[in-house]
Amino acid sequence: MDKRPIGIFDSGVGGLTVVDKFFRLLPNERIVYLGDTARVPYGNKSKETVTRFSKEIIAFLLRFKVKLIVVACNTVSSLCLPALQKSCPVPVLGVIKPGVLEAVRASRTRRIGVIGTQATILSGVYKNEIKAVSKKAFVAQKACPLFVPLVENMWLNGEITLKIARQYLSPILAERIDSLVLGCTHYPLLKNVIRKIVGKNVTLVDSSEAVTKYAGLLLANRKLLAGAGSASARFFATDAQASFAELARVFLGKKIKAKKVIL
Ligand code: DGL
Repeated sequence: MDKRPIGIFDSGVGGLTVVDKFFRLLPNERIVYLGDTARVPYGNKSKETVTRFSKEIIAFLLRFKVKLIVVACNTVSSLCLPALQKSCPVPVLGVIKPGVLEAVRASRTRRIGVIGTQATILSGVYKNEIKAVSKKAFVAQKACPLFVPLVENMWLNGEITLKIARQYLSPILAERIDSLVLGCTHYPLLKNVIRKIVGKNVTLVDSSEAVTKYAGLLLANRKLLAGAGSASARFFATDAQASFAELARVFLGKKIKAKKVIL
C-alpha cells in the first residue's frame, strides 16, 4: 500500500480524459493534476520549449511527493519523454507506448492509423514505436490541428465537425487501416464523429485508457497501489480561465475547481 499521490499533467484541460480513466480504473489513488492552461497549445511548439515547460511542471508535482508521474499529453510524450525520465527521481509514464501496444494488439492486418497534433505527427514517434513492436506494420499518419479548437469550443458533433473530420480521415482510411490511435488528449471527445466516418470495423484506440491500465500494472508490479479509502484529487492550472470549469465538466463529466499556480 502506498498512499503517495500520482501526478498527472497536460498542456491544458485535455489531460482530464486521463484523470477520468484513473477515477474509473484506479479509484483508490490520490491524484494531483496540473493543466498548463496559460501556455496551451503545445501541439505547435518546438521540442526545446515543450521540454522546458514540462520540466517546470514536473518540479511542481514533485513537491507533492508523488510516486509516479503520468504525462497525459501526447505532444509532450512524443517530443521529450526520455529527457523527462532521465531527470526525474520517480517513474514517468507517457501515453505513446501504452497506446502503441494496444493498437498493435487490436490490429489484425497490421495496418494502423495515427492521428495527433502537428508536433506529435511530425515527431514520427508513434510510427517508430509501432514499427519497433511490429516490424511489418504499415502506419498511416495524419495531423488534425483543427480538432483541438473544435473540442475546446465544444463543437463535438454536427455537420461542420463531421466535414472536417472526413477531410482529415479520408486519406488514412484509403490506406485500409483496421485500427486508429487517437493520439491526442482531446480526440476521445470526438469519438462519435470519428466513428461515423471510420465505420464499425476500425478499432479506435484511446491512449488515455491504455496509459491508465499501464500505470495500474506498473503500480501493482512495484507494490505501489493505494489501498481503499485513500482516494482524493487536487487540480491546478497555470491560468484560471473562465472556461476551465465548463471544459472540465465535458472532459471529466463533473464539476471541479482548479487552483491557479505560477510555475
Ligand atoms: N494535450 C495535447 C496533446 O495531447 C493537445 C493540446 C495541445 O496542443 O497542447 O497532444
